[in-house]
Amino acid sequence: MTTELTGRTAIITGASRGIGLAIGQRLAQAGANVVLTSRDQQSADAAAAQIDGDALGVAAHVAEDDAAQRCVDLTLERFGSIDILVNNAGTNPAFGPLIDQDHGRFAKIFDVNLWGPLLWTSCAVKSWMGEHGGAVVNTASIGGMSSAPLMGMYNATKAALIHLTKQLVLELSPGVRVNAICPGVVRTKLAEVLWQEHEQALSTTMPLGRIGEPVDVADAVAFLVSDAASWITGQTLVVDGGQILGDATGFRAGHGG
Ligand SMILES: NC(=O)c1ccc[n+]([C@@H]2O[C@H](COP(=O)([O-])OP(=O)(O)OC[C@H]3O[C@@H](n4cnc5c(N)ncnc54)[C@H](OP(=O)(O)O)[C@@H]3O)[C@@H](O)[C@H]2O)c1
Repeated sequence: MTTELTGRTAIITGASRGIGLAIGQRLAQAGANVVLTSRDQQSADAAAAQIDGDALGVAAHVAEDDAAQRCVDLTLERFGSIDILVNNAGTNPAFGPLIDQDHGRFAKIFDVNLWGPLLWTSCAVKSWMGEHGGAVVNTASIGGMSSAPLMGMYNATKAALIHLTKQLVLELSPGVRVNAICPGVVRTKLAEVLWQEHEQALSTTMPLGRIGEPVDVADAVAFLVSDAASWITGQTLVVDGGQILGDATGFRAGHGG
């Protein structure tokens, strides 16, 4: 089976930079037409201009019903299908201990990180994939599978997204495959607080010796949405250089490394 995507169309939410933009570039490289969203039309256009292939930038707040449906409609008008949806937009306005959170931050983070993926999946399925089939990938996080200081609220959204991924598999079967990816720390704006001040120290602890680059995640997504993954659904693919296994330093020392 091939990882070729020629003739297919993909919507990637939150694709103005970081992991989403890399996914857009990677899927276009595989031959897909790509639709990239941002809250801002100029940023969406700028992202589309960086794609080597057929690309459209669309302004859409990921948690707004009208914006999601408009983007789906524009995609069908321009390209005639929606074969792939990557629910990638994410945010973290709730960095800190859980008991210091408030309802405003709770509502915003769950709106973007959880309602967004459900809303866009629903629009794509009702407008196209329900009849024609398709592949959905949700960008979760290794935080959704573990605990980390100050990340409790964000991680709760990603844990819920992993659950939602599995529920959708059953509800949308057999035509639509739904999988999740769980990146570790990747070099993007969103995660700056996790790596910028201490990249070297963090990299040393990582089993594969470095933090992630957006393209590491994009390559995994390109596989999951392709025919090479045509019998894979409901899975949570960890793309983290081994980070979730813990600090490798002491283990290496045991081997004189
Ligand atoms: N970087 C990491 O270490 C890491 C690890 C695990 C998981 N993730 C997940 O990976 C995904 C991508 O994050 P990233 O690290 O690439 O972050 P990023 O570089 O900050 O990019 C975030 C993207 O999401 C968009 N976005 C944010 N809020 C939005 C909203 N309300 N509506 C529409 N778009 C919105 C931003 O677009 P505009 O600002 O242009 O609107 C931007 O394109 C997120 O789901 C994040 O949780 C990241």
